[in-house]
Amino acid sequence: MESVSHENRLFPPTSEFVENAHISGMDAYKAMYVKSLEDPEGFWAEAAQDLHWFKPWDSVLDASNAPFYKWYDGSRTNLSYNCLDRNIEAGLGNKVAIHWEGEPGDTRELTYKQLHLEVCRFANALKARGLQKGDRVAIYLPMIPELAIAVLACARIGAVHSVIFAGFSADSIRDRVLDSETCMVITGDGGYRRGKMLELKKIVDEGVASCACVKDVIVVKRGDEHPVDCPMQDGRDSWYHELVADVSDDCTAEEMEAEDLLFLLYTSGTTGKPKGIMHTTAGYQVFSYLTSKYVFDLKADDVYWCTADVGWITGHTYIVYGILQNGVTQVMYEGAPNHPDEGRFWEIIEKYKVSIFYTAPTAIRAFMKWGDKWVTGRDLSSLRLLGTVGEPINPEAWIWYHKMIGAERCPIVDTWWQTETGGHMLTPMPGATPTKPGCATTPFFGIEPAILTDDGKEVEAGILAIKKPWPGMLRGIYGDPQRFKDTYWCKWGGKYYFPGDGARRDEHDYIWILGRVDDVVNVSGHRIGTAELESVFVEHKDVAESAVVGVPHEIKGQGLIAFVTVIEGRDHDDHLRKELIAMIDKSIGKFARPERILFSSDLPKTRSGKIMRRILRDIAEGKELGNTTTLADPGVVEELQEQFLKS
Ligand code: WT7
Repeated sequence: MESVSHENRLFPPTSEFVENAHISGMDAYKAMYVKSLEDPEGFWAEAAQDLHWFKPWDSVLDASNAPFYKWYDGSRTNLSYNCLDRNIEAGLGNKVAIHWEGEPGDTRELTYKQLHLEVCRFANALKARGLQKGDRVAIYLPMIPELAIAVLACARIGAVHSVIFAGFSADSIRDRVLDSETCMVITGDGGYRRGKMLELKKIVDEGVASCACVKDVIVVKRGDEHPVDCPMQDGRDSWYHELVADVSDDCTAEEMEAEDLLFLLYTSGTTGKPKGIMHTTAGYQVFSYLTSKYVFDLKADDVYWCTADVGWITGHTYIVYGILQNGVTQVMYEGAPNHPDEGRFWEIIEKYKVSIFYTAPTAIRAFMKWGDKWVTGRDLSSLRLLGTVGEPINPEAWIWYHKMIGAERCPIVDTWWQTETGGHMLTPMPGATPTKPGCATTPFFGIEPAILTDDGKEVEAGILAIKKPWPGMLRGIYGDPQRFKDTYWCKWGGKYYFPGDGARRDEHDYIWILGRVDDVVNVSGHRIGTAELESVFVEHKDVAESAVVGVPHEIKGQGLIAFVTVIEGRDHDDHLRKELIAMIDKSIGKFARPERILFSSDLPKTRSGKIMRRILRDIAEGKELGNTTTLADPGVVEELQEQFLKS
């Protein structure tokens, strides 16, 4: 764990921002926070009042079967209803929900009414294909409106969506589809990325070729202008536009039970097998709604833009569910930040008069590298609030964001959370918290963090724990309740949630996130388990063993360095390196490629045969080695260091 320097400058919000904010000033935040901990059920009951319930709850929190907590038990509700119908009833039907812009520059605009119509039609099409409440549906689409429509259509009829980021490989699709026994895949013929068309349908075909559970593949046509070769399989595949052509506009939202499964989202852990994180209906609904409202200080005339992909949790919560429930207008963009040039994001902010901008530290570092010239000359005066998510932000990048993009006027919310938490956990309140560059600061309402040692003692720097349940929390790992308990609830005897991050508390009682304490690496804000890569490498016939570690990376935050030992007598050269990279592309996706692959005859191990990752990390960072006395064979380290310097 490495501390993000000792940055202590304080940046309070401007008085103008404070005056108009939902949570106005630190005293207001503190009072409300204290209340939320003293009476969590009262707090969360009140928060839920803004939303529509077909039937109210009997109890706010049921902790009788911890860690299988239940929220709003006894209630019935529907998230698609709360995102759409509720807002239309409130008179927002003609308000723009989504300004969409494709990478080539094509645009679409959907009002709440139009979005509602599209969702209802597609939901009816799904029902016509026989899809039922509880069925799992994989969604593998580019960032086009149909991605949000498909998600909301599933929620409307109670089907469980499992969105797979469109950068994942065919093998990853297969593993996810089989793990959740998905009966349907919704995909597209393609999507644009850096001027090229990604041929998504082909990847899906390969991925589901051996999946007997998949009966239906629905294909959205994206390649109108540049037709994509997209063979359709008789009896299995159908075109989206044909299915929605002759269905009704009316689709009553299914009355969902509070703990009915809403979605699965697969994420990496410390083993080779990704976990299907389960989020359920009522608690996630309230948490995504309330965190969006307060952390982004959402107001009726805001234009919000989150640059994440709906394929990650950020897009689920802060593009689709949380943002639409608040009835604001947002921008959705399909492509890369540097297409056709490095000024694209600032052009979009200027064009749509974006007022709230939420992006990742890795993107900010890339913008810094591309240079200020892409920003100067753009009118960014519409911006009033900035946010970051996904990894610790280094103070340099924070200051650049604050000055160049925020004109030293916009508060920055550095939001710490996870796929598992469903929404923001640690974050400044933009109209209250004086921020510090690189610091996620204070807990959201109802969240009680602690910093502990392995055996549960409170310390200043150690392991982050969450002491109380919260509505947006994950409810399980699909098909594996034991792994759910073992991974998140065993660390401190089942009492607290273990997120897997290290943290430090400073003199202002602010919390600094110090990075993961497990074998999960955060590459450009994407979580990758080192074990996932290792299990791919050892499938190669010439590979004996492998260990992958994360190292600091200038743009990506962290990069991966792979150490691979080759079976004696086999070649290890660039050819093998290329084969191994091709295997990563195929098994996980290009985004998981390691920066470097080092070959050696052995790995540094203890006398009991345990690989010493700490030493590998030191080698990979070119550092002086720490204590090596427990090594079984110190010679191995010298060989690796030599390799590292040569390659
Ligand atoms: C892990 C969760 C949260 C949605 C995107 C990533 C790291 C996330 C921050 C932040 C420092 C952060 C943590 C966390 N992380 N946000 N603001 N500061 N670290 O979701 O893929 O589930 O990854 O990302 O290590 O555990 P995810």
